[in-house]
Amino acid sequence: MSDKSTGVIRSVIAGCGSALPQRIMTNADISKIVDTTDEWIVERTGIKARHIADDSETTRTLGVDAARKALAHAGLEAGDVDLIIVATSTPDQTFPATATLIQADLGITRGAAFDVQAVCSGFVYALTVADAMMKTGQASCVLVIGSETFSRILDWTDRTTCVLFGDGAGAVVLKAETHPDSQQSPGILVTRIHSDGRFHDKLYVDGGPSTTKTVGHLRMEGREVFKHAVTNISGVMDEVMKEAHVAPADVNWFVPHQANRRILEGTVRKLGIREESIVMTLDRHGNTSAASIPLAFDVAVKDGRIAKGDLVLFEAMGGGFTWGAVLARY
Ligand code: UT7
Repeated sequence: MSDKSTGVIRSVIAGCGSALPQRIMTNADISKIVDTTDEWIVERTGIKARHIADDSETTRTLGVDAARKALAHAGLEAGDVDLIIVATSTPDQTFPATATLIQADLGITRGAAFDVQAVCSGFVYALTVADAMMKTGQASCVLVIGSETFSRILDWTDRTTCVLFGDGAGAVVLKAETHPDSQQSPGILVTRIHSDGRFHDKLYVDGGPSTTKTVGHLRMEGREVFKHAVTNISGVMDEVMKEAHVAPADVNWFVPHQANRRILEGTVRKLGIREESIVMTLDRHGNTSAASIPLAFDVAVKDGRIAKGDLVLFEAMGGGFTWGAVLARY
């Protein structure tokens, strides 16, 4: 840890990258599989299309692709990395952690690699763990990856869930840098995570190694999740903004988990965040669980919307329930 008079350790976002499966499945394609319409999906969710992995594309391969792009964007080598955290609920295997498979593919043999499982909140949880480890001097260059292949755990006969999700990966490289202890300095300013396990059966997978010995399928009481979403998300966003002494109007970009357009619009309205500041990719990506935030972030950085120095607010809610938010200056 550093002496506050000379500065504090900040986890600075040095680069980002993302990867999507080749195949695009539109709402019209899905309406040939289950009893649904493009109109219903767009009106209730905002989703128009999603990417679906083929057999050669897995959580590992998508994660490696996103990680390589993030390292190149940061101007760093794989050898600079001393920690890899992968947020996923769809690992290639029950064990070892997908992070170790990605570590091997990148040719890294030092440091540590592990997975974090907080479903759709996984990326926010992973950023929180990475930031804590950097601030305590346990890592100096961290790859934080959100990678998912939810298409593998969907029940493709259940129209209430299969229309919502897609596959993909996003990654950021965090570098420990010493900066003045100011809200103007770059890096993660505040992280906050929550969970409430009483709601574990509102969004879950009905299988697992220790119970059914199968992978299982995703099940969700959508309306119940929706009911809690705006309250939980706006609550935790308010917490991080208050802790950083930041007003909603100061936030340049709101990069949320991409579950439902109506949830996002309800949240920004409740908090008084400008609607133009939402980075929305769910129309093209659907809900990619732990990958959705880094995917959206990468899109908005690469198309020039998010610039160095901008204040960015990430948030997510998912199965558990888990939820959280991270405020960072890019
Ligand atoms: O990423 C983790 C967090 N997840 C979320 O945040 C998801 C939160 N939930 C949601 O986004 C919404 O609840 C959904 C998009 C899942 C559903 O929207 P809704 O407005 O809550 O719809 P509903 O579940 O209340 O269903 C309304 C009607 C039902 O028919 P009845 O009972 O009114 O006759 C459903 O059977 O829509 C029907 N329905 C569909 N119709 C056409 C449900 N799914 C479909 C479908 N196509 N795909």
